Amino acid sequence: MTNVLILGGTGWLSGRIARRWLESGAAVTCLARGGRLAPAGAVLVTGDRDDHEVYSALARKDWDHVVDISSQAAHVVAAVEALGDRTARWTYVSSLSVYADDATVGADESAPRHPAARPGDEYEYGAQKAAAEDAVMMLGDRAFIVRPGLIVGDGDPSDRFGYWAAAFSRAGEEPVLLPPLERRSAQVIDVDDVAAYIVAATRSGAVNAIGDEHPLADLLQTVREEAGHTGETVVADEEWLRAHGVAHWAGPLSLPLWLPPEMSGFMTRSNSAFHDSGGHLRPLADTVRRVVADERTRGVDRERRAGLTRAQEKALLADR
Ligand SMILES: NC(=O)c1ccc[n+]([C@@H]2O[C@H](COP(=O)([O-])OP(=O)(O)OC[C@H]3O[C@@H](n4cnc5c(N)ncnc54)[C@H](OP(=O)(O)O)[C@@H]3O)[C@@H](O)[C@H]2O)c1
Repeated sequence: MTNVLILGGTGWLSGRIARRWLESGAAVTCLARGGRLAPAGAVLVTGDRDDHEVYSALARKDWDHVVDISSQAAHVVAAVEALGDRTARWTYVSSLSVYADDATVGADESAPRHPAARPGDEYEYGAQKAAAEDAVMMLGDRAFIVRPGLIVGDGDPSDRFGYWAAAFSRAGEEPVLLPPLERRSAQVIDVDDVAAYIVAATRSGAVNAIGDEHPLADLLQTVREEAGHTGETVVADEEWLRAHGVAHWAGPLSLPLWLPPEMSGFMTRSNSAFHDSGGHLRPLADTVRRVVADERTRGVDRERRAGLTRAQEKALLADR
């Protein structure tokens, strides 16, 4: 039986990876602090990775596969040091945020990365991911680095993609405010497609795990149709949104998936290596259907980590 250790395994993506492995018949152990449950059938070892001794019990056996999702380089460095010699294959979930250049359209895995963070540096996500990648790469052919783009699906804790499902659902016959759409695209990947890829992949090196490119207008229209929105759509321009304090991409008072022109390479990266190494992308409409249902279950007016409240959206629309 395949013995898999997931450093994490109780979170959103890492939980799906754990579940996928269990479904394939593997024995799965998860390491987490224990605030959330591991998927049924997995063994949960509790411990805090801020304490590097946390790996000592896990280092007493051999692992066929370790998966790490941490975004703290110190955690990853310590894990590789403690478990690297006893592990046949190691997958690290990095991010497209590791790349230094967000402007070049079509860039592949050879694009330059941010300089790797050094111990004591102020926390910067891309630099931490780069340092973590370097630690895992020390394992040579046993190392596999997965760099996801925007991961979407039901249960997404970031609230970004789901914002559009909620916005179109809550508006009904009333207008919805959209970001600039001309020459804008989006790449999204379903959380379960990332999990399936990690479990099935056999290659080493680094691979962008990202969706195919869709015109942003088409993607939002797919969400709108699934949500049954029949009201007007009002496209705002860049300057007007900025003047009204609306942020791009994420966070409060934002329009998720909107990127400024200088980031036109952020969601137009190459996913050829993903496709060539067995990566499968389900139809966008399947993901959208699940996300709309999930947002309605969770409540389209709930407090969110990203997007506009309906009150903010209405105030902006009234000011047009
Ligand atoms: N969302 C996106 O669009 C996107 C895009 C690119 C890349 N990514 C990457 O995708 C991954 C997301 O993974 P995820 O969804 O599973 O993350 P998550 O939901 O934040 O879960 C984090 C996991 O790590 C555990 N953990 C956190 N701190 C710990 C500590 N100090 N000691 C021990 N365990 C700890 C958590 O359990 P406890 O809290 O119980 O400890 C949990 O199991 C990350 O690597 C992220 O950078 C995401």
